[in-house]
Amino acid sequence: MPYQLLSKIATSDRHGENSPYFDGWKAYDKNPFHPTLNPDGVIQMGLAENQLCFDLVEEWVRKNPEASICTSDGVPKFKDVAIFQDYHGLPEFRQAVAKLMERARGGKVKYDPDRVVMSGGATGANETIMFCLADPGDAFLVPSPYYPAFARDLRWRTGVEMIPVHCKSSNNFQITIEAMEAAYEKAQQGPNPSNIKGLIITNPSNPLGTTLDRETLKGLVRFVCEKNIHLVCDEIYSATVFKPPHLVSVSEVMEEVGGCNRDLIHVVYSLSKDMGLPGLRVGIIYSYNDAVVSCARKMSSFGLVSSQTQHLLASMLSDEEFIGQFIRESSKRLAKRHTLFTKGLAQMGISCLDSNAGLFFWMDLRPLLKEQTFEAEMQLWRVIINDVKLNVSPGSSFCCTEPGFFRVCFADMDDHTVEVALNRIRAFVLREEQCVHNKNQAGTTLKKRRNWQNNVNLRLSFSSRGYDESIQSPHKMSPHSPIPQSPLVQAKT
Ligand SMILES: Cc1ncc(COP(=O)(O)O)c(C=O)c1O
Repeated sequence: MPYQLLSKIATSDRHGENSPYFDGWKAYDKNPFHPTLNPDGVIQMGLAENQLCFDLVEEWVRKNPEASICTSDGVPKFKDVAIFQDYHGLPEFRQAVAKLMERARGGKVKYDPDRVVMSGGATGANETIMFCLADPGDAFLVPSPYYPAFARDLRWRTGVEMIPVHCKSSNNFQITIEAMEAAYEKAQQGPNPSNIKGLIITNPSNPLGTTLDRETLKGLVRFVCEKNIHLVCDEIYSATVFKPPHLVSVSEVMEEVGGCNRDLIHVVYSLSKDMGLPGLRVGIIYSYNDAVVSCARKMSSFGLVSSQTQHLLASMLSDEEFIGQFIRESSKRLAKRHTLFTKGLAQMGISCLDSNAGLFFWMDLRPLLKEQTFEAEMQLWRVIINDVKLNVSPGSSFCCTEPGFFRVCFADMDDHTVEVALNRIRAFVLREEQCVHNKNQAGTTLKKRRNWQNNVNLRLSFSSRGYDESIQSPHKMSPHSPIPQSPLVQAKT
């Protein structure tokens, strides 16, 4: 056997970086949009970041200088915080996180600070929980479409396999017990049956932006208990729910399922999305299984949250008034932004999955595909990223089985950038229409035309009355918008 200089992990491509999901980020990095310095750059709509309430966090930090140990008000605590810490974490930090988790779930559940284990973001938390629950070669069921970086987090270093449970557009991508059973049975058949150790779900869902209803969640709890496998619930978007129905957490539902084996239930949490603090790398494993808590805690040595960060957050998260206001304001701003975006798209005839949570929505561009294939999806994605200059993520990178869906992140930009993005999409749609029109006039029958016409949702009429005033009105339009420069659009509106 040839000598291999690096490990199998280092040389494998199981990290999953070869995906348009990450390629889109690279395209953005090479040519990032800036309203004045680079108005024709790529707009980042592929990053699930919550930047809508950063002003509130900054204000809190300013008002509480003692919480930051590198200020003259905080320096008396510097030594205490900077010296050795063990992997249990500061008690006040665990207490504050448990309280936040309760609050983000509407106060309907209680969390025990002694079960709060920290890790480097939910990324680290998801990997740690895999290390605790499964051996290399074991498998986890993952309803699709799912978060693309699960390929890295769940399987790259652990050697765990992922088995998608395909959900369909026909029922709005809801997880059904029938689909779960079918995937479970199929995985156990054939010459190499999988050893299924569990199921991992995201609730609210990334990429769909929807929450699981109580009955579905109960069904999943029953499913794992029957099969004696684990249920990992990644609930890192729990406080991003911006309209009803409210979040139903597995922590609530497990109490309602008779005979539920609590040892099988684990929650993953993080401050990256709800609080918009991904750079602080705060991830949480909350398990109802004592052995898992104990093992995860030992493993957390590899991904501790720095005690400076714990110290700051212990103070911030236990400020009940601030947290209450933050969560309320955040969901208000998310709702407003979501409406602005999806309404703007609806007025262009583009529909999105009805969603109530998260930092993204699931856009249906099937009518724009030349044919209903993943090649056509990639072709469209390349046009969107290279010509329209928007980094949206194609459904194939979320392991969606139906081509034509794209995830659009809406909370990592300011209102002006939203306007520019909507105007670019609008110009693109109009250009497509014009192209179809010209070819038709020349007597060419386009497949595309049929696609457009067949879809009742996708109307290509852009009367100025039909378009949202707030997006359309010329005085509100950015001087950098591509729209005024487009003769096509000017001719139309
Ligand atoms: C479902 C899900 N889990 C985990 C993560 C990773 O989060 P963190 O930044 O806390 O590592 C993300 C980030 O987008 C996510 O969407």
